[in-house]
Amino acid sequence: MLYQTHAQVHLGNIRRNIEAIRTAVGADRKMLIAVKANAYGHGAVEVSRMAQKAGVDWLGVATVPEGMELRQAGIRLPILKLSPLFPEEMEAAFSSDIAIAVCERGNIRAAQDACKALGLRGNVHLKVDTGMGRVGCTPEDAPAIALFIEKNCPNLNVQGVFTHFPVSDEGDPSYTRAQFARFKAVVEAVNEAIGRRVELAHCSNSGAVLAHPEAWLDMVRPGIMIYGHYPDAETPQSIPLQPGMSIATRLSCVKKVSKGTDISYGRTWSAPRDTWVGTIPAGYADGFNRLFSSRGRVLVNGRSCPIIGRVCMDQSMVDLGPDAQDKVGDQVVLMGEQGGLSISCEEWAKVLGTITYEVTCQISPRVSRVYDED
Ligand SMILES: Cc1ncc(COP(=O)(O)O)c(C=O)c1O
Repeated sequence: MLYQTHAQVHLGNIRRNIEAIRTAVGADRKMLIAVKANAYGHGAVEVSRMAQKAGVDWLGVATVPEGMELRQAGIRLPILKLSPLFPEEMEAAFSSDIAIAVCERGNIRAAQDACKALGLRGNVHLKVDTGMGRVGCTPEDAPAIALFIEKNCPNLNVQGVFTHFPVSDEGDPSYTRAQFARFKAVVEAVNEAIGRRVELAHCSNSGAVLAHPEAWLDMVRPGIMIYGHYPDAETPQSIPLQPGMSIATRLSCVKKVSKGTDISYGRTWSAPRDTWVGTIPAGYADGFNRLFSSRGRVLVNGRSCPIIGRVCMDQSMVDLGPDAQDKVGDQVVLMGEQGGLSISCEEWAKVLGTITYEVTCQISPRVSRVYDED
């Protein structure tokens, strides 16, 4: 086999995270898991296949091609595109049986036209902006828009009403509570306007799954927690989670260098003593961010070793220490466990000044995904 730096995707852990959420939210409520952005870097098809077996009810995608990829892979679960579409994307979405988010009349007309042309009835979910400030109609407009669909769009079914929380993961619950109160009133007004109860009212991302049980409604919509991470250090860890990904590579070169030897581009690191330097075939093109230059660390034969000098596009250097006995081919863990030590995705996020979401999304396609089930 040709060697690549690889991400071990722990499908068993992801499944257990899903099961833990199911236990918390109960069997009667639907669960949509966000598999957008290649399942936050973990592999959308593989995660969705497992989720289908694990009793997940819906999948959430960010783009029409993401949804089509799942259909082409034989995934049968309902799929919701979580954000608005351009008119020219409607036909592709509905012919792949993807439910869509809508929030304004022009877009809704385009959806109606596409469904009429296809001779089918498409499902739409009305997106309401209750305080995220991204997409969605105003709470005041929602009932009239829902009624507009009911009256003018015989090929559309208002299947859902939904909103999104920007700070449900933060310690202070007051903003989310106010948003939720607004959303509940919107759902009631929409139901009244169209004279029936909309099948799916939903608003709970991971932060709300963990901290706002009152907001679970008909369906929850977790993303990051599926992959084993709490959305924020302040979020209550009310459901146990296990990490969905480890990343490992191997030493590709080991050499003894003497004190004063410069390492990598820019000569930003010089050996402070005689030492052994190891090279790994992982760089910023793999998602091993350049901000790790002289700041990150890896695990080699059960020791924590610092990244030295600049991370290159395809390779990085590690100080193995003056007494190292490591050999070319030895395993190097970039994220995960080795010999009782571990480097978490949260540690990466902290060093890089970002969030775990971005860390796993940025693991590039060049890093082969290897799936374990148990
Ligand atoms: C509309 C919507 N719902 C749910 C999620 C899942 O959020 P999280 O990963 O924080 O659980 C996202 C992700 O950004 C989203 O955009």
